[in-house]
Formats: sequence, C-alpha cells, structure tokens
Amino acid sequence: MMRSVVRGVGSALPSRVMRNADFEGIVDTSDEWIVQRTGIRERRIASDAETTASLGEAAARAALASAELTPDDIDAIVLATSTPNNTFPATAVEIQERLGMHHGFAFDMQAVCSGFVYALTVADLHILAGKARRVLVIGAETFSRILDWTDRTTCVLFGDGAGAVVLEGQEGAGTTTDRGIIASSLRSDGSHKEKLYVDGGPSTTGTVGHLRMEGREVFKHAVAMITDVIEDVFAQAGVTAADIDWFVPHQANKRIIDASARKLGIAEEKVVITVDRHGNTSAASVPLALAEAVGDGRIKKGDLVLLEAMGGGFTWGAVLVRW
Ligand code: UT7
Repeated sequence: MMRSVVRGVGSALPSRVMRNADFEGIVDTSDEWIVQRTGIRERRIASDAETTASLGEAAARAALASAELTPDDIDAIVLATSTPNNTFPATAVEIQERLGMHHGFAFDMQAVCSGFVYALTVADLHILAGKARRVLVIGAETFSRILDWTDRTTCVLFGDGAGAVVLEGQEGAGTTTDRGIIASSLRSDGSHKEKLYVDGGPSTTGTVGHLRMEGREVFKHAVAMITDVIEDVFAQAGVTAADIDWFVPHQANKRIIDASARKLGIAEEKVVITVDRHGNTSAASVPLALAEAVGDGRIKKGDLVLLEAMGGGFTWGAVLVRW
C-alpha cells in the first residue's frame, strides 16, 4: 500500500520580534493578561519586504534541503494560506516561480487555521491516487496584514511565519507501523462562520478587510471539535492516546491545547508548544511547530505524531503520521 511519508521539513520566521509589552502603548492591554489568557509572550511580524510568498518560499527551500531534494524533484505544491499575496493568482504559483519550477502544478487551499491539516490531507490523496509522487505542502501566513491594530481582543493573538514539509509516496505494508500518513479526518460547519471571519473580500466589499473574532465563542467549541476529529483518527488507525509519541496541535491558545491534551489523556511532556514564541500563525502554526520539534531532535523517525487544527468556518481536522 502506498503511504505519503514526510521526507523533509522546514520553516521560516520574520526577524522582527514583537513582545507583549510592545502592545502596551498601542491598545489597552498588558503582558500579564496576554500570558494568562493565551500563553503568548511574543510573536514575529513581517517587514514590508516579507510576504506570504517570500516566507513560504524560504520554508519550502528549508524543507527541500532537509529532504535532500531540489524543486526538480517535486510534482506539486499545495499552499495553505488565508493571507495570499494577491486575490489571484494563487500564491502557490508565485512560490513555484520563485523556486524556478516550471513543471507540475501548484494551488492554494483556504481553511484558515486548519489549512495545513487540510493541505496535507489533499496532498496525501494526490499521492495515493498516483497523481503526484512528491508534494511540497506549505502553510504560510502574514496575519499582521489583516489585523485591526486598534482591537485588543484580536491584534495581540496572531503572528506571521511559514512551515513546509515534503511528502513522498513510498510503499508500506498497510499497517500502523508504516511510515507516513496513517489516518486523517476533516470537518467544517459554516453555521459558525460569523464567529471568526474577515470583514472584507473581492466579491463583497472589494477590500481585503480585517479579522473579527468572538474569541469566547470560538474557545467554547474548540476542545470538543478538536477531540472529535482526533478520536476519529484514533478509531481509523486502531490506536489510543498512549500510542502517541508527539502531539503537535494548532497553536492558538495554550489553555485550549492543555484542555485538549488533558481530555484525550495525552501527557504534557508529549505536547509541542510554540504559541509562547509564535502566537497564532494560522495555517503556519502546525508546520512551524513540527520543524522546531524535528530540528531539536524531539521527533524522530518512527515516532507516531498527531497533528490537529481548528479555525474559522469553523473548520477542523486531524492527521496521524508515523515519522
Ligand atoms: O486559531 C483559530 C481559533 N482561534 C482560537 O482558538 C481563539 C479562541 N479564543 C481564545 O483563545 C480566547 O477566547 C481569547 C484569548 C481570545 C480571549 O480569552 P477569554 O478568556 O475568552 O477572554 P474574554 O474574551 O472572555 O475576555 C475577558 C475580558 C473582557 O473584558 P470584560 O468584558 O470581562 O470586562 C475583554 O474585553 O478580557 C478583556 N480583554 C482584554 N483585556 C486586556 C480582551 N482582550 C484583551 C486584551 N487585554 N488584549
């Protein structure tokens, strides 16, 4: 049976660090409130020269280097983003051009914070269907560009960055000991669309708009939705929380991550946390966290890794992958 194996991983962050204290002169907030309610201490903010395409390109190059591959070896690029460089063409196509890749195909996927989990699943299906052998899957965002910097309930929460993986089709035995993606589960429910959205767009206002969120409402649903899709991938694979080596959740709020891990029975020391330093980077958060935990030697070949995300729409999903 064909499996989509993670062959390389990489990330890129803007160099500018914005600490909680830096917001104190901008909106009525405090380092103490932000740390207590979210676990965030700092985030990266893109310079004028940095874009979703440039960050995505840098993460893609890092992932290719770690896979010991070049753009010539890649058949397709799937970019998860809600902050594309332009309304069209797809930013994935711009990254394809930046990589000097003139074959294959590239497209964007939009599932907000769940974007990377959606993109991984779609890339996996292309590989399983024989449409591509190697796919570059990128999550890249510049949420700083769509924040209302006068709204303290949202502007302190988000950051910019990008992460990427190279997925490669390899033969497996069809068991959960195979390397690669073992199970995935995607969900959405548009009845929640007004709880987290951007108040502009090409077909409505003709503007880009700003992010709006009823944070408490999102929080209320998050843990149940996250645990629902995780229990689904556990059931598909026939594994339990005890089998998980690393839990790499979407990094929106440390309290949501802790509550989800507790509910699932996943030990604290197995949870990868970057929200303290990255804030919520939407579709980039999971691959950024993956790149960190692989880079520092925590995630090793053969480990069972659980990915999860939840965001605007609502959308939510989970992927179980043997590293
Ligand atoms: O990635 C997509 C998914 N997104 C999420 O998962 C985000 C989910 N939501 C959350 O993480 C949390 O709901 C927030 C961090 C957004 C807010 O935390 P909370 O504990 O739910 O706080 P709250 O919204 O209930 O607000 C509590 C108080 C309010 O004041 P009053 O009404 O009690 O007087 C807010 O106005 O905190 C106030 N507040 C702030 N105070 C200082 C809201 N933002 C701030 C702020 N600084 N930045």
